[in-house]
Amino acid sequence: MASVQLNHIFKRYPNGFEAVKDFNLDIEDKEFIIFVGPSGCGKSTTLRMVAGLEDISEGDLLIDGKRVNDVEPKDRDIAMVFQSYALYPHMTVYDNIAFSLKLAKLSKDEIDKKVKEAARILDLESLLNRKPSALSGGQRQRVAMGRAIVRNPKVFLMDEPLSNLDAKLRGQMRVEISKLHQELGATIIYVTHDQTEAMTLGTRIVVMKDGIVQQIDTPENLYNHPANKFVAGFIGMPVMNMIDAQVAQEGADITLSFADQKITLDAKRASALKEKDYIGKTVTIGIRPEDINEQRAGGNGVPIHVETTVFEMLGSEGLLYFNLADSNWVSSVSPGMGAKPGDQVDLLINLEKMHIFDKETEMTIVD
Ligand SMILES: Nc1ncnc2c1ncn2[C@@H]1O[C@H](COP(=O)(O)OP(=O)(O)OP(=O)(O)O)[C@@H](O)[C@H]1O
Ligand SMILES: [Mg+2]
Repeated sequence: MASVQLNHIFKRYPNGFEAVKDFNLDIEDKEFIIFVGPSGCGKSTTLRMVAGLEDISEGDLLIDGKRVNDVEPKDRDIAMVFQSYALYPHMTVYDNIAFSLKLAKLSKDEIDKKVKEAARILDLESLLNRKPSALSGGQRQRVAMGRAIVRNPKVFLMDEPLSNLDAKLRGQMRVEISKLHQELGATIIYVTHDQTEAMTLGTRIVVMKDGIVQQIDTPENLYNHPANKFVAGFIGMPVMNMIDAQVAQEGADITLSFADQKITLDAKRASALKEKDYIGKTVTIGIRPEDINEQRAGGNGVPIHVETTVFEMLGSEGLLYFNLADSNWVSSVSPGMGAKPGDQVDLLINLEKMHIFDKETEMTIVD
């Protein structure tokens, strides 16, 4: 059992820089929490504060309900796996995994049992006598995981553990880590730049920007209901299309005008804009590429007529790029569409999936 609570956590570095501002998070036992955000937003700093490798400037850190701000890293019952997983080059895989257990003066039998169990979970059984130099990147990564597993910690902290691996290995290791989480039933906090890792591994994702938490939610909610424009643009590939639009009332209808388009809103969005007093104002709208498609028989949505700038065939889908006023937009179309630059095409926007943001605060008004 391991719950972790971060209550109003701040980090001020000695030079005065405030890297983390009022971080609040309740992590339940067995959760797989992901920290994502642009470089420098404070992910590693937060993780290192949980590990005890960095002092907490303000706030309380609780593990299983006990305040641990002043508890030494080695006494926090936490194991950390870093991006550079420095294995001892002169030791075998077995000895690398056994190292911390030997330091802890466990008996030979106990050590052997734990190392073999970790090797089984990580599929390293046939490699136990090798030296790290004779292993692939993914195998080394698994040894690093093995070192963390045998300690049977309350909490695993991982800081971009897969970023040194190539795309294929990352994919494989991602699946391994997911299995590991299920098998160990462990609480994990995991930092990554990689959206796919974040979306597939996380039970909840924390999106950070400039030291401030933007949203904490399940992958599905982050994707479908981003709290603000930043989260909407950060989660999802290709990124969400966005453009400013003018809100107007025409009789009973509420309309949005952008570029040379005018659309009439559905009841839900119309009433949200009206109630919150946006008539006559400018908002920012966001539409994901998969919610703009070519017109098909029986297709639903608002038609737009655009000129293709680029068409990319990606195998399972096609990406059609076009300009709306000054913004570059992209839509997901069928791979066989094969539009050429300059081709005029008719597309449909699925309004049901449209996000509307306040232009000034950038907070979501309705989605
Ligand atoms: N010792 C330090 N003194 C002052 N500022 C620091 C120190 N260490 C880190 N920072 C700053 O704190 C901010 C957060 O750093 P941190 O390493 O947590 O970012 P990150 O989100 O992990 O970024 P990345 O994705 O690049 O690893 C950065 O702006 C960084 O320059
Ligand atoms: Mg970092």
